[in-house]
Amino acid sequence: MAVTADRLRAIPLFSTLSETELEATAGHFTERDVAPGACLTVEGASGYCFFVIEHGTAEVEQDGKVVNTLGDGDFFGEMAIVSGERRSATVRAVSPLDLLVLFGTEFRLLERDLPSVAEKIVETMRRRAGAPSPQAG
Ligand code: CMP
Repeated sequence: MAVTADRLRAIPLFSTLSETELEATAGHFTERDVAPGACLTVEGASGYCFFVIEHGTAEVEQDGKVVNTLGDGDFFGEMAIVSGERRSATVRAVSPLDLLVLFGTEFRLLERDLPSVAEKIVETMRRRAGAPSPQAG
């Protein structure tokens, strides 16, 4: 199934985009469905993809401990791409996950062309980097 502008509009990160922007952005995404237990990022490994959870729940683990839970509309995988560093956490599916995926090169286009989206991502990233205990998103 193609990733459409309508599907992206339901994601808070993209909710302020115009129809034209949504359509252009949707064209860069691929979709991926994974089973419970799958690891999408591995703490300490290299990583080149950015993920948006369309449906489902995932846990974020650092040093073997769950530090947060992500659900519908949340995104992850931004830190390694933005910072160029290794994955800061392991993200594991705890339910079946419907994911929208961007490769690093497309993520860079999004950062360049959609400053409002880039700003939201950086804001969330900063909050996560400074968050020692569980918190939303
Ligand atoms: P990245 O480091 O690329 O890969 C692991 C991802 O887990 C990271 O990007 C963030 O998207 C996410 N992440 C890391 N720490 C937290 C946190 N405290 N809360 C929510 N998500 C996090």
